[in-house]
Amino acid sequence: MVLKGKKILIGISGSIAAYKMPLLVRLLMKEGAEVQIIMTPAARDFVTPLTLSTLSKRPVLTGPFNPVDGTWNSHVDMGNWADLMLVAPASATTLGKMANGIADNLLVTTYLAAVCPVFIAPAMDLDMFQHPSTRQNIKTLQSYGNHLIAPREGELASGLCGAGRLEEPEVILEILRDFFKGIQSWAGKKVLITAGPTVEPIDPVRYISNHSSGKMGYALAEEAIKRGADVTLVSGPVSLPAPSGVTLIKVHTAQQMLEACQKVFDASDLLIMAAAVADYRVAAVSDHKIKKQGGAGTPALDLVENPDIVKTLSAHRNDGQYIMGFALETDNELANAQSKLMSKGMDAIALNSLNEQGAGFGTDTNKVTLIHRSGISYTSGLEPKAGIAGRILDFIEETIVNP
Ligand code: PMT
Repeated sequence: MVLKGKKILIGISGSIAAYKMPLLVRLLMKEGAEVQIIMTPAARDFVTPLTLSTLSKRPVLTGPFNPVDGTWNSHVDMGNWADLMLVAPASATTLGKMANGIADNLLVTTYLAAVCPVFIAPAMDLDMFQHPSTRQNIKTLQSYGNHLIAPREGELASGLCGAGRLEEPEVILEILRDFFKGIQSWAGKKVLITAGPTVEPIDPVRYISNHSSGKMGYALAEEAIKRGADVTLVSGPVSLPAPSGVTLIKVHTAQQMLEACQKVFDASDLLIMAAAVADYRVAAVSDHKIKKQGGAGTPALDLVENPDIVKTLSAHRNDGQYIMGFALETDNELANAQSKLMSKGMDAIALNSLNEQGAGFGTDTNKVTLIHRSGISYTSGLEPKAGIAGRILDFIEETIVNP
């Protein structure tokens, strides 16, 4: 299911062909896509927002503000959220506005803010479609890199016959599927990713842990899903929603994380260890809350070493499996990362430093130096973790084919 988890933004403009859109939305939802619909004011005369919100399971947006509570529908957020935007039906007016940057409605502002591929499916009467201004607008939009889903020939609402019918929903679905298949460079790959901290209990109310939020590992899972991989995410306790399409296994301790990984590792092509695993756990976990000692000294905590998950897994790796770990360092950064890369039997390591502002734990951004055991390396700038995830997967792609 190539569309599973894909975030599709649909812009509907005023054309009688809007009646076909509920069917397309239903087909996309059946494939497991997430669908957000924006309508122009004119589109509401042709199909109701209620029908579309019921099918898409999300409110349909028609203006920059929610009329009920006044909240802002951010075109920029939506433009960043989407994996693909489809404008269908695209009326002559909407094509003209898109081609000329006339941002007087939510559909066009979102189109201008969208950083994803955009597909445009025009629908209008024969003569409007043939008009030089419409032809020119379509040409302009294509020259900006937008993809055209050309209208079909056939009987039109006016009774005339010719080109102008919106392509059938089943065909549009197929076009979108083919598009994603084409960019799914990780299709068929099974990827195991760890994320978040582990927590090691001291007693029923206290634990040892660290500041990992899971953001880096979850961003990697999301990126691998986008590239078509089959992703298992083994996560310590974090408050992030599971990226859609991943198999999520929640754990608490390092021992549980190891056991969860061992179940999946053999069948995986790739392991990315982004979790911040506690190196030590308490030797004897108290089964009751440890009380204050009332001036009679302080309790001592005996620690024992946790298993090294990545080292344990890499010792039994199959041919062709690729392992990438992380190194979170505060000093001797490069040397420590290189030594972890070799001693833990990994193919590559992503070094992030707590000395770098905006990098490491909890932040929405990161900066990494990626090192492959062959010596190939790459240093990123400070970027959102989603972008860093892309760099890491690009680096893996490059060093798999060019080790
Ligand atoms: O979750 P965020 O807030 O987004 O923060 C992201 C991050 C900083 C946690 C992440 O980018 C990161 O650096 N993760 C690894 C942190 C870490 O534990 O580094 P380390 O240098 O201690 O360990 C080296 C490697 O061995 C890591 O891949 C780690 O997962 C692995 N390890 C460590 C200990 C252990 N017992 N078993 C392991 O497998």
